Amino acid sequence: MADKKLREEIEKRRTFAIISHPDAGKTTLTEKFLLYGGAINLAGSVKGKATARHAVSDWMEIEKERGISVTSSVLQFNYGGFCINILDTPGHQDFSEDTYRTLMAADSAVMVIDAAKGVEPQTRKLFKVCAMRKIPIFTFMNKLDRDAMDPFELLDDIENELGIPTCPMNWPIGSGKEFKGVYDRERQMVVVYSDTQKGTKEGHKEEIPLSDTDSLLKVLGQSAFDKLMEDVELLDGAGSTFDREEVDAGMLSPVFFGSALTNFGVELFLQNFLKLTLAPLARTADTGVIDPMSDDFSAFVFKIQANMNKAHRDRIAFMRICSGRFTAGMEVLHVQGEKVMRLSQPQQMMASERHIVDEAYAGDIIGVFDPGIFSIGDTVCSPNVKFAYEGIPTFAPEHFARVRQIDTMKRKQFVKGITQIAQEGAIQIFHELNTGLEEIIVGVVGVLQFEVLKYRLENEYNVEIRMDTLPYEHIRWIANKDIDVEKLTGTSDMKKVTDLKDRPLLLFINSWSIKMTEERNEGLVLEEFSKN
Ligand code: G4P
Repeated sequence: MADKKLREEIEKRRTFAIISHPDAGKTTLTEKFLLYGGAINLAGSVKGKATARHAVSDWMEIEKERGISVTSSVLQFNYGGFCINILDTPGHQDFSEDTYRTLMAADSAVMVIDAAKGVEPQTRKLFKVCAMRKIPIFTFMNKLDRDAMDPFELLDDIENELGIPTCPMNWPIGSGKEFKGVYDRERQMVVVYSDTQKGTKEGHKEEIPLSDTDSLLKVLGQSAFDKLMEDVELLDGAGSTFDREEVDAGMLSPVFFGSALTNFGVELFLQNFLKLTLAPLARTADTGVIDPMSDDFSAFVFKIQANMNKAHRDRIAFMRICSGRFTAGMEVLHVQGEKVMRLSQPQQMMASERHIVDEAYAGDIIGVFDPGIFSIGDTVCSPNVKFAYEGIPTFAPEHFARVRQIDTMKRKQFVKGITQIAQEGAIQIFHELNTGLEEIIVGVVGVLQFEVLKYRLENEYNVEIRMDTLPYEHIRWIANKDIDVEKLTGTSDMKKVTDLKDRPLLLFINSWSIKMTEERNEGLVLEEFSKN
Protein backbone atom coordinates (compact mmCIF):
# COMPACT_ATOMS: atom_id res chain seq x y z
CA MET A 1 0.00 0.00 0.00
CA ALA A 2 1.02 3.54 -0.64
CA ASP A 3 2.64 5.34 2.27
CA LYS A 4 0.92 8.41 3.67
CA LYS A 5 3.24 10.94 2.07
CA LEU A 6 2.87 9.35 -1.36
CA ARG A 7 -0.91 9.40 -1.06
CA GLU A 8 -0.97 13.02 0.08
CA GLU A 9 1.35 14.17 -2.67
CA ILE A 10 -0.66 12.45 -5.38
CA GLU A 11 -4.02 13.58 -4.04
CA LYS A 12 -3.03 17.21 -4.24
CA ARG A 13 -1.87 17.01 -7.86
CA ARG A 14 -4.03 18.61 -10.54
CA THR A 15 -2.76 18.23 -14.08
CA PHE A 16 -4.57 20.01 -16.86
CA ALA A 17 -4.08 21.49 -20.29
CA ILE A 18 -5.23 24.90 -21.41
CA ILE A 19 -6.62 24.93 -24.90
CA SER A 20 -7.77 27.79 -27.07
CA HIS A 21 -7.75 29.33 -30.47
CA PRO A 22 -4.73 31.67 -30.76
CA ASP A 23 -5.38 35.05 -29.17
CA ALA A 24 -8.31 33.96 -27.06
CA GLY A 25 -6.21 34.67 -23.97
CA LYS A 26 -4.54 31.41 -22.95
CA THR A 27 -1.22 33.06 -22.14
CA THR A 28 -2.83 35.86 -20.20
CA LEU A 29 -4.92 33.45 -18.16
CA THR A 30 -1.89 31.24 -17.44
CA GLU A 31 0.03 34.28 -16.25
CA LYS A 32 -2.74 35.20 -13.87
CA PHE A 33 -2.85 31.66 -12.51
CA LEU A 34 0.86 31.82 -11.82
CA LEU A 35 0.37 35.11 -10.13
CA TYR A 36 -2.10 33.59 -7.70
CA GLY A 37 0.26 30.73 -7.06
CA GLY A 38 2.89 33.29 -6.13
CA ALA A 39 5.06 31.69 -8.78
CA ILE A 40 5.73 34.98 -10.50
CA ASN A 41 5.63 38.51 -9.22
CA LEU A 42 4.62 40.25 -12.33
CA ALA A 43 2.46 38.79 -15.00
CA GLY A 44 4.18 38.71 -18.32
CA SER A 45 7.03 36.31 -17.79
CA VAL A 46 5.42 33.11 -19.05
CA LYS A 47 6.89 33.51 -22.47
CA GLY A 48 8.25 36.13 -24.77
CA LYS A 49 4.84 37.20 -25.91
CA ALA A 50 5.79 39.07 -29.01
CA THR A 51 7.58 36.04 -30.38
CA ALA A 52 5.36 33.35 -28.98
CA ARG A 53 2.32 34.31 -30.91
CA HIS A 54 1.53 34.65 -34.57
CA ALA A 55 4.22 32.26 -35.70
CA VAL A 56 4.50 32.91 -39.36
CA SER A 57 6.42 31.13 -42.06
CA ASP A 58 9.70 32.68 -41.02
CA TRP A 59 11.97 30.01 -39.60
CA MET A 60 13.33 32.27 -36.91
CA GLU A 61 9.87 32.43 -35.52
CA ILE A 62 9.51 28.69 -35.60
CA GLU A 63 12.81 28.29 -33.85
CA LYS A 64 11.87 30.71 -31.15
CA GLU A 65 8.54 29.08 -30.81
CA ARG A 66 10.18 25.73 -30.36
CA GLY A 67 12.71 27.14 -27.93
CA ILE A 68 9.92 28.62 -25.95
CA SER A 69 7.84 25.53 -25.98
CA VAL A 70 10.72 23.51 -24.52
CA THR A 71 10.86 25.74 -21.52
CA SER A 72 7.19 26.34 -21.08
CA SER A 73 5.81 22.93 -21.88
CA VAL A 74 4.76 22.34 -18.32
CA LEU A 75 4.50 24.76 -15.46
CA GLN A 76 4.19 23.64 -11.89
CA PHE A 77 3.06 25.78 -8.99
CA ASN A 78 1.25 25.50 -5.67
CA TYR A 79 -2.00 27.18 -4.85
CA GLY A 80 -4.55 26.63 -2.09
CA GLY A 81 -3.04 23.33 -1.00
CA PHE A 82 -2.91 21.96 -4.55
CA CYS A 83 0.13 21.21 -6.64
CA ILE A 84 -0.82 22.32 -10.12
CA ASN A 85 0.71 21.20 -13.39
CA ILE A 86 -0.36 23.27 -16.37
CA LEU A 87 0.37 21.72 -19.72
CA ASP A 88 0.85 24.30 -22.38
CA THR A 89 -0.48 23.46 -25.80
CA PRO A 90 1.47 25.18 -28.57
CA GLY A 91 -0.51 28.25 -29.49
CA HIS A 92 0.40 29.23 -33.03
CA GLN A 93 -2.06 29.56 -35.86
CA ASP A 94 -0.69 26.41 -37.26
CA PHE A 95 -1.18 23.20 -35.56
CA SER A 96 0.87 20.18 -34.77
CA GLU A 97 0.30 16.78 -33.32
CA ASP A 98 2.14 17.90 -30.20
CA THR A 99 -1.02 19.59 -29.12
CA TYR A 100 -3.01 16.42 -29.43
CA ARG A 101 -0.43 14.44 -27.53
CA THR A 102 -0.20 16.97 -24.76
CA LEU A 103 -3.87 16.43 -24.14
CA MET A 104 -3.15 12.74 -23.63
CA ALA A 105 -1.08 13.66 -20.59
CA ALA A 106 -3.76 15.84 -18.99
CA ASP A 107 -6.54 14.84 -16.60
CA SER A 108 -8.77 17.75 -17.55
CA ALA A 109 -8.81 20.70 -19.90
CA VAL A 110 -9.57 24.38 -19.60
CA MET A 111 -10.97 25.80 -22.80
CA VAL A 112 -10.49 29.55 -23.19
CA ILE A 113 -12.94 31.22 -25.55
CA ASP A 114 -12.95 34.83 -26.72
CA ALA A 115 -16.46 35.98 -25.84
CA ALA A 116 -16.54 38.26 -28.86
CA LYS A 117 -15.85 35.38 -31.22
CA GLY A 118 -17.35 32.23 -29.75
CA VAL A 119 -16.07 28.81 -30.82
CA GLU A 120 -13.26 29.06 -33.37
CA PRO A 121 -11.82 26.34 -35.63
CA GLN A 122 -8.81 25.48 -33.47
CA THR A 123 -10.98 25.04 -30.42
CA ARG A 124 -13.14 22.61 -32.36
CA LYS A 125 -10.18 20.40 -33.27
CA LEU A 126 -8.75 20.36 -29.77
CA PHE A 127 -12.10 19.75 -28.31
CA LYS A 128 -12.55 16.59 -30.38
CA VAL A 129 -9.51 15.10 -28.67
CA CYS A 130 -10.75 15.99 -25.19
CA ALA A 131 -14.11 14.51 -26.01
CA MET A 132 -12.47 11.33 -27.24
CA ARG A 133 -10.70 10.92 -23.92
CA LYS A 134 -13.81 11.87 -21.98
CA ILE A 135 -11.87 14.16 -19.67
CA PRO A 136 -13.63 17.01 -17.86
CA ILE A 137 -13.70 20.25 -19.83
CA PHE A 138 -14.05 23.62 -18.15
CA THR A 139 -14.80 26.74 -20.14
CA PHE A 140 -13.43 30.19 -19.37
CA MET A 141 -15.34 32.73 -21.43
CA ASN A 142 -12.80 35.51 -21.72
CA LYS A 143 -12.60 39.22 -22.59
CA LEU A 144 -15.89 40.34 -21.08
CA ASP A 145 -14.31 43.76 -20.66
CA ARG A 146 -14.78 44.07 -24.41
CA ASP A 147 -18.05 43.95 -26.30
CA ALA A 148 -19.08 40.32 -26.29
CA MET A 149 -21.67 38.11 -27.96
CA ASP A 150 -24.85 37.48 -26.04
CA PRO A 151 -24.02 34.95 -23.29
CA PHE A 152 -26.93 32.69 -24.21
CA GLU A 153 -25.68 32.68 -27.80
CA LEU A 154 -22.20 31.81 -26.59
CA LEU A 155 -23.51 28.80 -24.71
CA ASP A 156 -25.58 27.73 -27.71
CA ASP A 157 -22.47 28.04 -29.81
CA ILE A 158 -20.58 25.59 -27.58
CA GLU A 159 -23.51 23.21 -27.50
CA ASN A 160 -24.04 23.31 -31.27
CA GLU A 161 -20.45 23.47 -32.44
CA LEU A 162 -18.91 21.12 -29.93
CA GLY A 163 -21.92 19.05 -29.00
CA ILE A 164 -21.45 19.34 -25.25
CA PRO A 165 -24.11 20.75 -22.91
CA THR A 166 -22.92 23.60 -20.72
CA CYS A 167 -23.66 24.71 -17.24
CA PRO A 168 -22.98 28.38 -16.48
CA MET A 169 -21.49 28.66 -13.00
CA ASN A 170 -21.57 32.42 -13.10
CA TRP A 171 -23.21 34.90 -15.43
CA PRO A 172 -21.95 38.16 -16.91
CA ILE A 173 -23.72 41.44 -16.34
CA GLY A 174 -23.18 43.39 -19.55
CA SER A 175 -19.92 43.50 -21.48
CA GLY A 176 -17.42 46.01 -22.81
CA LYS A 177 -17.93 49.48 -21.40
CA GLU A 178 -21.12 48.24 -19.79
CA PHE A 179 -19.50 45.29 -18.02
CA LYS A 180 -20.64 45.40 -14.43
CA GLY A 181 -19.50 42.09 -13.04
CA VAL A 182 -20.66 38.50 -12.74
CA TYR A 183 -23.41 36.80 -10.83
CA ASP A 184 -22.20 33.75 -8.90
CA ARG A 185 -25.10 31.33 -9.23
CA GLU A 186 -24.19 28.99 -6.39
CA ARG A 187 -23.77 31.70 -3.79
CA GLN A 188 -26.45 33.98 -5.35
CA MET A 189 -24.02 36.83 -5.13
CA VAL A 190 -23.13 39.58 -7.57
CA VAL A 191 -19.39 40.13 -7.79
CA VAL A 192 -18.87 43.71 -8.92
CA TYR A 193 -16.41 44.32 -11.72
CA SER A 194 -13.17 45.94 -10.76
CA ASP A 195 -10.60 46.67 -13.38
CA THR A 196 -7.40 45.84 -11.58
CA GLN A 197 -4.19 46.86 -13.19
CA LYS A 198 -2.24 44.42 -15.27
CA GLY A 199 -0.06 42.24 -13.11
CA THR A 200 -1.73 42.79 -9.80
CA LYS A 201 -3.88 40.34 -7.93
CA GLU A 202 -7.58 40.87 -7.84
CA GLY A 203 -7.74 43.90 -5.61
CA HIS A 204 -10.86 45.42 -4.26
CA LYS A 205 -13.66 42.88 -4.21
CA GLU A 206 -17.23 44.00 -3.77
CA GLU A 207 -19.99 41.43 -3.47
CA ILE A 208 -23.71 42.07 -3.20
CA PRO A 209 -26.31 39.39 -2.52
CA LEU A 210 -28.95 39.07 -5.24
CA SER A 211 -31.62 39.78 -2.63
CA ASP A 212 -30.18 43.23 -1.84
CA THR A 213 -32.11 45.11 -4.52
CA ASP A 214 -31.25 48.60 -3.31
CA SER A 215 -27.51 48.10 -3.40
CA LEU A 216 -27.69 46.29 -6.72
CA LEU A 217 -29.70 49.08 -8.30
CA LYS A 218 -27.17 51.59 -7.09
CA VAL A 219 -24.24 49.72 -8.57
CA LEU A 220 -25.79 48.30 -11.72
CA GLY A 221 -28.42 50.87 -12.69
CA GLN A 222 -31.99 50.01 -13.57
CA SER A 223 -31.54 48.47 -17.01
CA ALA A 224 -28.61 46.18 -16.11
CA PHE A 225 -30.48 45.16 -12.98
CA ASP A 226 -33.65 44.30 -14.95
CA LYS A 227 -31.64 42.36 -17.50
CA LEU A 228 -29.89 40.40 -14.75
CA MET A 229 -33.18 39.46 -13.09
CA GLU A 230 -34.58 38.36 -16.42
CA ASP A 231 -31.48 36.29 -17.19
CA VAL A 232 -31.44 34.67 -13.75
CA GLU A 233 -35.02 33.61 -14.21
CA LEU A 234 -34.27 32.19 -17.63
CA LEU A 235 -31.20 30.36 -16.36
CA ASP A 236 -32.96 28.83 -13.41
CA GLY A 237 -35.90 27.84 -15.57
CA ALA A 238 -34.04 26.33 -18.50
CA GLY A 239 -30.36 25.57 -18.85
CA SER A 240 -28.44 22.54 -17.73
CA THR A 241 -28.17 22.11 -14.04
CA PHE A 242 -24.87 21.25 -12.51
CA ASP A 243 -24.20 17.53 -12.30
CA ARG A 244 -20.86 16.46 -10.88
CA GLU A 245 -20.87 13.03 -12.48
CA GLU A 246 -21.52 14.45 -15.93
CA VAL A 247 -18.73 16.96 -15.48
CA ASP A 248 -16.33 14.19 -14.45
CA ALA A 249 -17.30 12.18 -17.52
CA GLY A 250 -16.68 15.14 -19.85
CA MET A 251 -20.35 15.32 -20.76
CA LEU A 252 -21.10 18.71 -19.27
CA SER A 253 -18.86 21.75 -19.34
CA PRO A 254 -19.06 24.22 -16.45
CA VAL A 255 -18.72 27.75 -17.85
CA PHE A 256 -17.18 30.75 -16.10
CA PHE A 257 -17.20 34.30 -17.45
CA GLY A 258 -14.45 36.79 -16.81
CA SER A 259 -11.62 38.86 -18.13
CA ALA A 260 -8.10 37.55 -17.90
CA LEU A 261 -6.49 40.83 -18.88
CA THR A 262 -8.15 42.93 -16.21
CA ASN A 263 -7.87 39.97 -13.86
CA PHE A 264 -11.54 39.76 -13.11
CA GLY A 265 -13.15 36.43 -12.34
CA VAL A 266 -9.83 34.60 -12.62
CA GLU A 267 -9.34 33.64 -9.00
CA LEU A 268 -13.00 32.75 -8.70
CA PHE A 269 -12.56 30.47 -11.67
CA LEU A 270 -9.33 28.95 -10.35
CA GLN A 271 -10.87 28.18 -6.97
CA ASN A 272 -13.98 26.59 -8.42
CA PHE A 273 -12.05 24.74 -11.05
CA LEU A 274 -9.71 23.24 -8.44
CA LYS A 275 -12.67 22.14 -6.37
CA LEU A 276 -14.18 20.35 -9.35
CA THR A 277 -11.21 18.97 -11.21
CA LEU A 278 -9.86 15.52 -10.45
CA ALA A 279 -6.70 14.17 -8.86
CA PRO A 280 -4.52 12.06 -11.23
CA LEU A 281 -6.68 9.60 -13.12
CA ALA A 282 -5.96 5.90 -13.35
CA ARG A 283 -4.60 4.87 -16.75
CA THR A 284 -5.06 1.63 -18.60
CA ALA A 285 -2.14 -0.64 -19.41
CA ASP A 286 -2.00 -4.01 -21.13
CA THR A 287 -2.28 -5.69 -17.74
CA GLY A 288 -5.34 -3.68 -16.69
CA VAL A 289 -6.01 -0.41 -14.92
CA ILE A 290 -3.04 0.95 -12.95
CA ASP A 291 -3.80 2.68 -9.65
CA PRO A 292 -1.99 6.05 -9.47
CA MET A 293 -1.43 5.42 -5.74
CA SER A 294 0.49 2.23 -6.43
CA ASP A 295 3.97 2.11 -4.89
CA ASP A 296 5.43 1.21 -8.26
CA PHE A 297 6.56 4.05 -10.46
CA SER A 298 5.28 4.19 -14.02
CA ALA A 299 5.10 6.83 -16.74
CA PHE A 300 4.60 7.15 -20.48
CA VAL A 301 6.29 9.35 -23.06
CA PHE A 302 3.86 11.77 -24.69
CA LYS A 303 6.15 14.18 -26.40
CA ILE A 304 9.67 14.27 -27.76
CA GLN A 305 11.33 17.56 -28.40
CA ALA A 306 14.42 17.75 -30.54
CA ASN A 307 17.07 20.04 -29.24
CA MET A 308 17.88 22.88 -31.55
CA ASN A 309 21.59 22.45 -30.92
CA LYS A 310 22.65 20.58 -34.02
CA ALA A 311 26.08 19.68 -32.66
CA HIS A 312 24.36 17.34 -30.22
CA ARG A 313 21.34 15.72 -31.65
CA ASP A 314 19.81 15.30 -28.23
CA ARG A 315 16.20 15.25 -27.54
CA ILE A 316 14.06 15.68 -24.48
CA ALA A 317 11.40 13.08 -23.81
CA PHE A 318 8.48 14.35 -21.79
CA MET A 319 6.84 11.79 -19.55
CA ARG A 320 3.64 11.85 -17.65
CA ILE A 321 4.01 9.99 -14.37
CA CYS A 322 0.96 7.76 -13.96
CA SER A 323 1.69 5.97 -10.70
CA GLY A 324 3.97 6.05 -7.71
CA ARG A 325 6.97 8.21 -7.01
CA PHE A 326 9.98 9.08 -9.11
CA THR A 327 13.26 9.74 -7.37
CA ALA A 328 16.38 10.98 -9.08
CA GLY A 329 18.82 8.23 -9.88
CA MET A 330 16.33 5.38 -9.53
CA GLU A 331 16.45 2.47 -11.92
CA VAL A 332 13.57 2.10 -14.32
CA LEU A 333 12.62 -0.35 -17.01
CA HIS A 334 12.10 1.05 -20.48
CA VAL A 335 9.47 -1.48 -21.48
CA GLN A 336 9.65 -1.16 -25.29
CA GLY A 337 13.47 -1.13 -25.27
CA GLU A 338 13.53 -3.99 -22.74
CA LYS A 339 16.32 -2.24 -20.85
CA VAL A 340 16.81 -1.26 -17.24
CA MET A 341 18.25 2.24 -17.09
CA ARG A 342 18.53 5.43 -15.12
CA LEU A 343 16.73 8.46 -16.52
CA SER A 344 19.31 11.11 -17.02
CA GLN A 345 18.94 14.77 -16.16
CA PRO A 346 15.29 14.55 -15.17
CA GLN A 347 13.89 18.07 -15.28
CA GLN A 348 10.80 19.85 -14.24
CA MET A 349 9.57 23.37 -14.75
CA MET A 350 8.75 25.46 -11.73
CA ALA A 351 7.16 28.67 -12.89
CA SER A 352 9.62 29.71 -15.56
CA GLU A 353 12.72 28.00 -14.27
CA ARG A 354 13.91 24.61 -15.25
CA HIS A 355 15.42 22.55 -12.48
CA ILE A 356 16.59 19.03 -11.84
CA VAL A 357 13.96 16.93 -10.12
CA ASP A 358 14.70 15.05 -6.95
CA GLU A 359 11.23 13.68 -6.51
CA ALA A 360 8.11 13.68 -8.61
CA TYR A 361 4.74 11.99 -8.26
CA ALA A 362 1.87 10.59 -10.28
CA GLY A 363 0.32 13.54 -12.09
CA ASP A 364 3.68 15.27 -12.65
CA ILE A 365 5.49 15.67 -15.91
CA ILE A 366 9.23 15.26 -16.17
CA GLY A 367 11.50 15.86 -19.12
CA VAL A 368 14.46 13.51 -19.50
CA PHE A 369 17.44 13.51 -21.78
CA ASP A 370 16.80 11.10 -24.64
CA PRO A 371 19.80 9.74 -26.52
CA GLY A 372 17.39 8.53 -29.20
CA ILE A 373 15.85 5.50 -27.55
CA PHE A 374 12.36 6.65 -26.72
CA SER A 375 9.35 6.78 -28.98
CA ILE A 376 6.06 8.51 -28.37
CA GLY A 377 3.81 6.28 -26.30
CA ASP A 378 6.63 4.27 -24.64
CA THR A 379 6.27 3.16 -21.04
CA VAL A 380 8.89 3.29 -18.28
CA CYS A 381 8.22 1.66 -14.93
CA SER A 382 9.80 0.16 -11.84
CA PRO A 383 11.81 -2.90 -12.92
CA ASN A 384 9.81 -5.19 -10.62
CA VAL A 385 6.65 -4.67 -12.65
CA LYS A 386 6.29 -4.84 -16.37
CA PHE A 387 3.42 -3.45 -18.36
CA ALA A 388 2.84 -1.07 -21.24
CA TYR A 389 0.36 1.76 -21.29
CA GLU A 390 -2.08 2.00 -24.16
CA GLY A 391 -0.41 3.76 -27.08
CA ILE A 392 -1.04 7.33 -28.02
CA PRO A 393 -3.26 7.56 -31.05
CA THR A 394 -1.76 8.81 -34.28
CA PHE A 395 -3.99 11.47 -35.69
CA ALA A 396 -4.87 11.90 -39.29
CA PRO A 397 -2.64 14.44 -41.05
CA GLU A 398 -4.48 16.85 -43.32
CA HIS A 399 -1.71 18.02 -45.62
CA PHE A 400 0.45 15.81 -47.78
CA ALA A 401 3.51 16.23 -49.95
CA ARG A 402 5.81 14.00 -51.95
CA VAL A 403 9.36 14.57 -50.75
CA ARG A 404 12.67 13.63 -52.37
CA GLN A 405 16.29 14.64 -51.93
CA ILE A 406 17.78 16.85 -54.63
CA ASP A 407 21.23 15.23 -54.60
CA THR A 408 20.71 11.51 -55.29
CA MET A 409 24.03 10.75 -53.57
CA LYS A 410 22.49 11.80 -50.28
CA ARG A 411 19.78 9.19 -50.28
CA LYS A 412 21.04 7.56 -47.08
CA GLN A 413 21.15 10.75 -45.02
CA PHE A 414 17.77 11.70 -46.40
CA VAL A 415 16.10 8.46 -45.33
CA LYS A 416 17.83 8.53 -41.95
CA GLY A 417 16.87 12.14 -41.28
CA ILE A 418 13.30 11.88 -42.37
CA THR A 419 12.81 8.65 -40.43
CA GLN A 420 14.24 10.14 -37.25
CA ILE A 421 12.10 13.23 -37.54
CA ALA A 422 9.08 10.99 -38.07
CA GLN A 423 9.98 8.97 -34.96
CA GLU A 424 9.93 12.16 -32.94
CA GLY A 425 6.38 12.53 -34.14
CA ALA A 426 6.83 15.87 -35.86
CA ILE A 427 5.68 14.45 -39.18
CA GLN A 428 4.29 11.17 -40.44
CA ILE A 429 5.78 9.36 -43.39
CA PHE A 430 4.14 6.97 -45.79
CA HIS A 431 5.16 5.11 -48.88
CA GLU A 432 3.11 3.83 -51.72
CA LEU A 433 2.08 0.24 -51.36
CA ASN A 434 4.81 -2.08 -52.62
CA THR A 435 7.31 0.63 -53.52
CA GLY A 436 9.43 0.57 -50.37
CA LEU A 437 11.04 3.79 -49.32
CA GLU A 438 11.64 5.03 -52.87
CA GLU A 439 8.87 7.56 -52.83
CA ILE A 440 8.22 9.18 -49.52
CA ILE A 441 4.95 10.89 -48.82
CA VAL A 442 4.91 13.17 -45.81
CA GLY A 443 1.73 13.95 -43.94
CA VAL A 444 1.40 16.76 -41.42
CA VAL A 445 -1.36 18.10 -39.25
CA GLY A 446 -0.32 21.73 -39.77
CA VAL A 447 1.55 23.09 -42.80
CA LEU A 448 4.18 24.75 -40.63
CA GLN A 449 5.62 21.27 -40.10
CA PHE A 450 6.62 21.14 -43.78
CA GLU A 451 8.90 24.10 -43.22
CA VAL A 452 10.25 22.62 -40.02
CA LEU A 453 11.05 19.42 -41.93
CA LYS A 454 12.82 21.24 -44.76
CA TYR A 455 14.83 23.34 -42.34
CA ARG A 456 15.84 20.45 -40.15
CA LEU A 457 16.86 18.21 -43.04
CA GLU A 458 19.04 20.97 -44.43
CA ASN A 459 20.56 22.02 -41.14
CA GLU A 460 20.81 18.84 -39.14
CA TYR A 461 21.30 16.27 -41.92
CA ASN A 462 22.75 18.44 -44.66
CA VAL A 463 20.18 17.30 -47.21
CA GLU A 464 18.27 19.56 -49.56
CA ILE A 465 14.84 18.40 -50.51
CA ARG A 466 12.13 19.01 -53.07
CA MET A 467 8.60 18.98 -51.90
CA ASP A 468 5.56 18.67 -54.14
CA THR A 469 2.27 19.13 -52.39
CA LEU A 470 -0.35 16.51 -53.03
CA PRO A 471 -4.07 17.17 -53.21
CA TYR A 472 -5.06 14.64 -50.53
CA GLU A 473 -6.84 15.95 -47.48
CA HIS A 474 -8.01 12.81 -45.75
CA ILE A 475 -6.29 9.68 -44.56
CA ARG A 476 -7.87 6.58 -43.11
CA TRP A 477 -6.37 3.64 -41.30
CA ILE A 478 -7.88 0.27 -42.12
CA ALA A 479 -9.19 -1.36 -38.98
CA ASN A 480 -9.89 -4.79 -40.54
CA LYS A 481 -7.05 -7.18 -39.79
CA ASP A 482 -7.91 -9.77 -42.44
CA ILE A 483 -8.23 -7.74 -45.57
CA ASP A 484 -6.38 -7.88 -48.85
CA VAL A 485 -5.61 -4.22 -49.35
CA GLU A 486 -4.53 -4.74 -52.94
CA LYS A 487 -7.98 -5.97 -53.80
CA LEU A 488 -9.79 -2.96 -52.33
CA THR A 489 -11.66 -0.98 -54.91
CA GLY A 490 -11.95 2.73 -54.28
CA THR A 491 -12.38 5.86 -56.30
CA SER A 492 -9.86 6.74 -59.00
CA ASP A 493 -8.29 9.46 -56.87
CA MET A 494 -7.64 7.13 -53.93
CA LYS A 495 -4.06 6.17 -53.05
CA LYS A 496 -2.98 3.11 -51.09
CA VAL A 497 -0.01 3.66 -48.78
CA THR A 498 1.65 2.13 -45.73
CA ASP A 499 3.06 3.90 -42.67
CA LEU A 500 6.31 3.47 -40.73
CA LYS A 501 4.85 0.43 -39.01
CA ASP A 502 3.73 -1.09 -42.28
CA ARG A 503 0.08 -0.57 -41.60
CA PRO A 504 -2.05 -0.01 -44.68
CA LEU A 505 -3.83 3.30 -45.18
CA LEU A 506 -5.88 5.05 -47.79
CA LEU A 507 -5.49 8.65 -48.96
CA PHE A 508 -8.47 10.57 -50.29
CA ILE A 509 -9.03 13.96 -51.86
CA ASN A 510 -12.51 14.46 -50.49
CA SER A 511 -14.88 12.95 -48.00
CA TRP A 512 -17.20 11.84 -50.77
CA SER A 513 -14.55 9.35 -51.97
CA ILE A 514 -14.30 7.92 -48.46
CA LYS A 515 -17.99 7.19 -48.45
CA MET A 516 -17.88 5.66 -51.93
CA THR A 517 -14.98 3.41 -50.92
CA GLU A 518 -16.82 2.23 -47.83
CA GLU A 519 -19.88 1.48 -49.91
CA ARG A 520 -17.92 -0.41 -52.55
CA ASN A 521 -16.14 -2.63 -50.04
CA GLU A 522 -18.55 -4.29 -47.72
CA GLY A 523 -17.36 -4.64 -44.15
CA LEU A 524 -14.43 -2.25 -44.61
CA VAL A 525 -13.81 -0.25 -41.42
CA LEU A 526 -11.90 3.01 -41.87
CA GLU A 527 -10.57 4.95 -38.88
CA GLU A 528 -9.62 8.58 -38.49
CA PHE A 529 -6.87 7.84 -36.01
CA SER A 530 -4.86 4.83 -35.12
CA LYS A 531 -3.80 3.40 -31.78
CA ASN A 532 -0.07 2.88 -31.77
P1 G4P B 1 -3.21 33.32 -26.57
O1 G4P B 1 -2.15 32.89 -25.61
O2 G4P B 1 -4.48 32.56 -26.42
O3 G4P B 1 -2.76 33.40 -27.99
O4 G4P B 1 -3.65 34.83 -26.19
P2 G4P B 1 -2.95 35.93 -25.29
O5 G4P B 1 -3.12 35.62 -23.86
O6 G4P B 1 -1.58 36.18 -25.79
O7 G4P B 1 -3.90 37.15 -25.61
C1 G4P B 1 -4.09 37.67 -26.92
C2 G4P B 1 -4.43 39.14 -26.87
O8 G4P B 1 -5.67 39.30 -26.16
C3 G4P B 1 -3.42 39.99 -26.11
O9 G4P B 1 -3.47 41.31 -26.66
C4 G4P B 1 -4.02 40.06 -24.72
O10 G4P B 1 -3.58 41.17 -23.99
C5 G4P B 1 -5.49 40.14 -25.05
N1 G4P B 1 -6.35 39.67 -23.96
C6 G4P B 1 -6.27 38.51 -23.26
N2 G4P B 1 -7.25 38.43 -22.34
C7 G4P B 1 -7.97 39.56 -22.48
C8 G4P B 1 -9.12 40.08 -21.80
O11 G4P B 1 -9.68 39.49 -20.88
N3 G4P B 1 -9.58 41.29 -22.24
C9 G4P B 1 -8.99 41.99 -23.24
N4 G4P B 1 -9.52 43.16 -23.58
N5 G4P B 1 -7.91 41.53 -23.90
C10 G4P B 1 -7.41 40.34 -23.52
P3 G4P B 1 -2.35 41.88 -27.63
O12 G4P B 1 -2.69 43.29 -27.89
O13 G4P B 1 -2.21 40.98 -28.81
O14 G4P B 1 -1.06 41.75 -26.78
P4 G4P B 1 -0.54 42.69 -25.63
O15 G4P B 1 0.14 43.80 -26.33
O16 G4P B 1 -1.73 43.16 -24.83
O17 G4P B 1 0.36 41.83 -24.84
